[in-house]
Amino acid sequence: MVNSKKILIAYASGVESIGRLAQVIADGIKKVDGVSVDVKRAKDVAPDDAVSADGYAFGSHSASEYMEGELKILFEELYHVRAKVSCKPVLLFVTGHGGQVNVLEYMESAVGKFNPHWIKPDVAVEGMPGEADKAKAIGMGMKLAYGARKYEYIVA
Ligand SMILES: Cc1cc2nc3c(=O)[nH]c(=O)nc-3n(C[C@H](O)[C@H](O)[C@H](O)COP(=O)(O)O)c2cc1C
Repeated sequence: MVNSKKILIAYASGVESIGRLAQVIADGIKKVDGVSVDVKRAKDVAPDDAVSADGYAFGSHSASEYMEGELKILFEELYHVRAKVSCKPVLLFVTGHGGQVNVLEYMESAVGKFNPHWIKPDVAVEGMPGEADKAKAIGMGMKLAYGARKYEYIVA
């Protein structure tokens, strides 16, 4: 089948665990026919990359109980094109050593400005993802991909 929907995974990478989790979520997305995925550092995402995507996964580790700077900068850039990224499915993912919930709240507040179609539950992992975390992340990647396939239906 030709890939007709594209998901962008954008993550901030101060630590190894979050890049690893991004790749596992991408593995889940790839299991769904008709959906492709780009995995990028947040600092390498141009607003046009985001506008052309049909769904998103945004990830950060907990950095002093907040999202890492490069992801915050991306969210601020996307605010200017929010009408073109709104209503699309969004999954959030975090790693940390106890600060995951705080980071998720900040990310949810920032992304909420885009009026997303949330794909829940968030993926929150303690340190490096273990086997159970990976299984959940793959499942949530698949759920995000199915959400992107239904995108016209969601916004109709
Ligand atoms: C600069 C920095 C600040 C951090 N601040 C927090 C924090 O406030 N709360 C927390 O739970 N973890 C914090 N961490 C821990 C990271 O989130 C943790 O390293 C990561 O989730 C585990 O991945 P790793 O095993 O690849 O390091 C911090 C890490 C770094 C590098």
